[in-house]
Amino acid sequence: MVEGIVKITNLNMLEQSMNVRSATEDDFDKVMEIDRLSFSAPWIYNFFKSALKDIFLVLEKEREIIGYIITCVCHDLEKAVILRIAVHPDHRGKGAAGTLIRTCLDMLVQKNIGVVELDVELVSRGAIRLYEKFGFKLANVLVFPSDFPGDETTFYIMRLELPKSEEQAVS
Ligand SMILES: CC(C)(COP(=O)(O)OP(=O)(O)OC[C@H]1O[C@@H](n2cnc3c(N)ncnc32)[C@H](O)[C@@H]1OP(=O)(O)O)[C@@H](O)C(=O)NCCC(=O)NCCS
Repeated sequence: MVEGIVKITNLNMLEQSMNVRSATEDDFDKVMEIDRLSFSAPWIYNFFKSALKDIFLVLEKEREIIGYIITCVCHDLEKAVILRIAVHPDHRGKGAAGTLIRTCLDMLVQKNIGVVELDVELVSRGAIRLYEKFGFKLANVLVFPSDFPGDETTFYIMRLELPKSEEQAVS
């Protein structure tokens, strides 16, 4: 589990009461509420519990959790996968997801992770736009067949290559 509070440095005046920190089990009630409001197939408690070994960050606004991101890191492959990100519906469209992704990507650069991937359902246009904004590019398309014609589910696999951290570039 990632330890400590991650300071956000580029918040505007209205967002100064926000901070990103590592999740703990005490946060699960709120995280699971946001998850239920955000996904048709919400995660169960144990999925979140096992995610505590990953990069699992929550974004607080005035001490209330309004969003979270979970990213799994494979150090051997220098690769990470964003597994889940969601923002409470009342707080969407104000940069919360962007703040979570930016913080997570900064952490991955510090860990010398070279590549981040994620999958996103084609219908989630807003999420695709969000990832494109951070430079993610389409890497592959997965189509899950259905018994009913025209009811296939299409996922985009998106990939972002990260820069080397300054620390590593110097050494
Ligand atoms: C996708 C989600 C995480 C975005 O959270 P958010 O806090 O509203 O996103 P932000 O305000 O940080 O948006 C950042 C950028 O993403 C893009 N974006 C986000 N939501 C968008 C939408 N619905 N439509 C179009 N663009 C969108 C925009 O480019 C935006 O930048 P801009 O405000 O400068 O235009 C949120 O809508 C959510 O929780 N959805 C349900 C769960 C989900 O789909 N998770 C992703 C699964 S892959």
